Amino acid sequence: MKKLWRFLLRKSIPADALSTLSFAVFGLGDSSYRKFNFPAKRLFRRLLQLGGSPLVPRGDGDDQHYLGLDGALDPWLEELWGELMKTYPMSEPVIPDSVTPDPTFAIEFADGCTENLHATASEPEHLVRLALAERITAEEHFQDVRHFRFEFDGENEPPCWNPGDCLVVRPSNQASDVAEFLDLVQWTKDADRPIRVTARSTAPPWLPRLTTLRWLCTNYLGIAMVPRRSFFELLAYFGGSDDEKEKLMEFASTQGQDDLHAYCMRPRRTIIETLGDFPKTRLPLSHVLDIVPSIAERSFSISSAAAVTPRSVDLTVAIVDYKTRMFRRRVGLCTQWLKHMQISIEVPVRFTKGTMVLPGDTETPVIMVGPGTGIAAFMAFIRHRRHQGATANYLFFGCRGHDTDFFYREELESYMGDGSLNLFCAFSRDQDHKVYVQDRIREQAVTLWPLISERGAVVYVSGNAKQMPDDVRQAFVDVVCGQGHVDESEAEQFIENMVKTRLYQEECWE
Ligand code: 2AM
Repeated sequence: MKKLWRFLLRKSIPADALSTLSFAVFGLGDSSYRKFNFPAKRLFRRLLQLGGSPLVPRGDGDDQHYLGLDGALDPWLEELWGELMKTYPMSEPVIPDSVTPDPTFAIEFADGCTENLHATASEPEHLVRLALAERITAEEHFQDVRHFRFEFDGENEPPCWNPGDCLVVRPSNQASDVAEFLDLVQWTKDADRPIRVTARSTAPPWLPRLTTLRWLCTNYLGIAMVPRRSFFELLAYFGGSDDEKEKLMEFASTQGQDDLHAYCMRPRRTIIETLGDFPKTRLPLSHVLDIVPSIAERSFSISSAAAVTPRSVDLTVAIVDYKTRMFRRRVGLCTQWLKHMQISIEVPVRFTKGTMVLPGDTETPVIMVGPGTGIAAFMAFIRHRRHQGATANYLFFGCRGHDTDFFYREELESYMGDGSLNLFCAFSRDQDHKVYVQDRIREQAVTLWPLISERGAVVYVSGNAKQMPDDVRQAFVDVVCGQGHVDESEAEQFIENMVKTRLYQEECWE
């Protein structure tokens, strides 16, 4: 995609270069981000500019849609197929509905083969060992936030990473879920026999060629995930009774999407629970890798600084564990996996670039706004900057209470004491009215304005509260208004320019 995009941007391309091209663009986005579907919008515009003809209007997939990306994809696909059928009329459907699709993997028992069991095609990028896992919120606090430390073993050269970078892990399922699943699909007695997995085309490098069903169900198949429409679509071919087949097909149909949402997405029903609701339908071994999605990687902001502690990587993670409105307990796959991990267990990891980047010099002031676990990357920033001898570090931290979820309090207070950090805390529930980081920002307008207007400070905003990024931005607009003596729209423009020049960076998630 990068290559194509660079090519499309070339000045030397004639203005009508794509005049014979018909195209369709569907973006995969999330409307909680300010730049919602930005790449798709730019691509669509550029293809138009070069003379291409869109078959259908651009589709904007939105993860915030109650049906997920499918919410926008389904109608868009329908329209696209309609257009394509006009251009290329077909008398017969290409794939008759009754034929079961070919599986993309072959799975066969390989009794006796145990050499290189579970070996993957490529070596993991790095192996680290869990050294520390401790709760950093008070016992009575509603949320269990933990500090994890992973260490590199003696001989391995630790990789280089920058403040703001993330650690990527691939979680595995809880043993109890695996046992329940194996029972449900009646694989328990075969669970530890070696199996050979052969991909008909390409296989993910972390899928072993020789393994066992137990390994697959533990480390590869997302059995605790909420099933998506495609799960029902494929499983319907294996419907064990007319009733069950009909229900599965209904969930897979365009008309059935609201029912599917009420059944699966809202209560966050897992694949294991869903299979339990279709007792006559047997999950076929042949198609299991097509029907059940694979476990996805997760990335977490690193809270330690390589410059200070090169042999370890720290994460600050809120453990996901809640009750749905139907009073079922729900847990987050990855954070539960972390929570239950034994000390000194070895796990494969890799590093990726985060979106926030520190200035290279030590003079530029850094203003960090990170309520809750938004503080994670800022711990790396602060530790790194102190190590460099930079002192213009300003942190706005928000949490519910001084005694409940003030993460890293002692460390932060010691940095305040030695002059390497200016800390402003907003304890939202320690008084009758809410106090948030944006209130503290407004209070500090006189301190903040010269940093921004004269010293080229970089502002970073990180966190998961939905409304927080907009509220914080408004607080900075107010600072610019009040101290810079400009009107609201000029102040907004000022912040907008800071965003464009990367002097205002946001990294927010849900
Ligand atoms: P609350 O839960 O008391 O509303 C970390 O989650 C902190 O962020 C909490 O103190 C939380 O307060 C606060 N928070 C919630 N919504 C916010 C918002 N829109 N802006 C800033 N902070 C917010």
